[in-house]
Amino acid sequence: MQNLLKNMKHFLNLKDIRTVDLKKILKDAKKRKSKRKNLNTLDVDKDAPLKGKILIQMFEKPSLRTRLSFYLAIRQLGGGTITLRSNELHLGKGGESLADTAKILSTYGDGFMLRTDSDKKINEVVKYIKIPFINGLSPSSHPTQILSDIFTVEEIKKKPISKLNICWIGDSNNVLNSLIAASVKFSFKLNIGCPKDYKPKKIILDWVKKNKKSVHIYNDPKKAVKNADVIFSDKVISLNDKVNIKKKTKDFKKFLIDEKLLKLAPKSIFLHCLPRGNEVSNKVFLGKKSHVWLQALNRVHVQKSILMYCFNKLR
Ligand code: CP
Ligand code: NVA
Repeated sequence: MQNLLKNMKHFLNLKDIRTVDLKKILKDAKKRKSKRKNLNTLDVDKDAPLKGKILIQMFEKPSLRTRLSFYLAIRQLGGGTITLRSNELHLGKGGESLADTAKILSTYGDGFMLRTDSDKKINEVVKYIKIPFINGLSPSSHPTQILSDIFTVEEIKKKPISKLNICWIGDSNNVLNSLIAASVKFSFKLNIGCPKDYKPKKIILDWVKKNKKSVHIYNDPKKAVKNADVIFSDKVISLNDKVNIKKKTKDFKKFLIDEKLLKLAPKSIFLHCLPRGNEVSNKVFLGKKSHVWLQALNRVHVQKSILMYCFNKLR
């Protein structure tokens, strides 16, 4: 248990976090990852910076990677975690307000990670929570995923992402929104390939413009992948998607990522946050250019440094 942390920080949306801090997180992750080469999964980092701290994780939607990677992240920093399912709480059953729940979480916990089906809930929780609060995926963003993906890109390509051409083929969803935010923060070139009725929301594109940056949208995947160093994708049907699945799947048919498309970007690698759907062929997903398993693993390393940032321990 713990009182309000001095200088604690939330990690809710990339667009609201200073670039210098995002870069510091990546630098710390690189350093910590390199020091773990001979350690077992649950061995604690030598400095045990979050010894005695507990991260409460709450999931309103399914998760495999986010749940496990945060579990390992806080354990490796010397702390622990407990995972709550919202439907097992008074909150989920309507018997307790979000405000009271957030205050209680702040009383028992040191940090709170929420995966939610409502952006409003994040905005509401933040009003009452007194401990670091992390967005573990919301309908509008998935910031921990994308910061970790930048780490993976730089690790594989051995270059700052600002020097690379990044391409997204797929739906304009939460993961893409965070990638767009990252393209502004880290100044990298971003091509988006999606059907014309599925482009990113105006509010997001306006934000890019306001920051004097641009993203390039193509309705032809072949044009979008040209010169790409990295091709990202994600499920066409997301967890929160309340759409006509048959129609949407059909609308994306031309945007399948297969070997033929990859040949148009010979130096590219393929990344996907998982879980996958039919947006990518099995051959590409399991092929040489795909680095999806390393990408998933790196979430542990980057989320450790996100926790360090939240607890104001990054130097
Ligand atoms: N990529 C990702 O967030 O996976 P989970 O939904 O399994 O957490
Ligand atoms: N866009 C996907 C990401 C899952 C990690 C979803 O929201 O379901």
